[in-house]
Amino acid sequence: MLGARQVAPDTTCLESYFPLPGLGMLPVNAFVIAAQQPVLVDTGLSMLRDDFLAALAETIDPSTLRWIWLSHMDADHLGNLQQILDLAPEAKIVTNFLGMGKMALREFDLSRVHLLEPGATLDAGDRELFPVKPAYYDAPETIGFVDTRTRVLFSADAFGALMQAPAEEAAAIRPEALRDGLTTWAAIDAPWLGVANPEAFGRALAGIRRFDPTAIISGHLPVAIGMTDRLLETLSGAVGRGTPAAPDHDSIEQLMARDAA
Ligand SMILES: [Fe+2]
Ligand SMILES: [Fe+2]
Repeated sequence: MLGARQVAPDTTCLESYFPLPGLGMLPVNAFVIAAQQPVLVDTGLSMLRDDFLAALAETIDPSTLRWIWLSHMDADHLGNLQQILDLAPEAKIVTNFLGMGKMALREFDLSRVHLLEPGATLDAGDRELFPVKPAYYDAPETIGFVDTRTRVLFSADAFGALMQAPAEEAAAIRPEALRDGLTTWAAIDAPWLGVANPEAFGRALAGIRRFDPTAIISGHLPVAIGMTDRLLETLSGAVGRGTPAAPDHDSIEQLMARDAA
């Protein structure tokens, strides 16, 4: 299942859900920013390629894309990168030094890279995308951003949540379910939060609060409008609680059989 929906000014979400045995589902989102120089943020899942490319084409003529902002090099963020590069010959990939190195390992054409140097912003014509290091992440090259025109904050993997059913907005998820989904996914995706210093993590969260975003868009959460304090407060409780135990082989088989039934 994959669809395109405007979730904030100038911001369209290409949304899908990835099932996880026994845990529910994880949203997997990419975004189109309708800037003067249009930006695609991440490139979706390869197994949903046809649907992803159709949803993209429904949103924008891919050949007009000027930038592909890659939050990081995990498979759920660059699944359709080569196809987009072929469809968008003018587009440059925005990443940093480490991201570029990982692209070289995967044999992408590095002449298509626009290296975002430390302290630099991306000029998209009518706005800038100001790079933001999310409060937590699962790959060191990760870069989110604040859109200086809309003050929408893209948080990459941060604020991702496991869910039991799709939702159009994070605010539509039952509060306890959202809290559990956020903290469980954070513990799985960033297990170092289990041993992180709560004060240091609190400072990282406060850094997000200072941007005072109008909305938070995440690779793994429906759009969160006016929920910044709630998300930050929930996540502040996710540190220092140890790391979760992963299911063993037998229990994974049981969970997959149950989900398939
Ligand atoms: Fe990731
Ligand atoms: Fe991810």
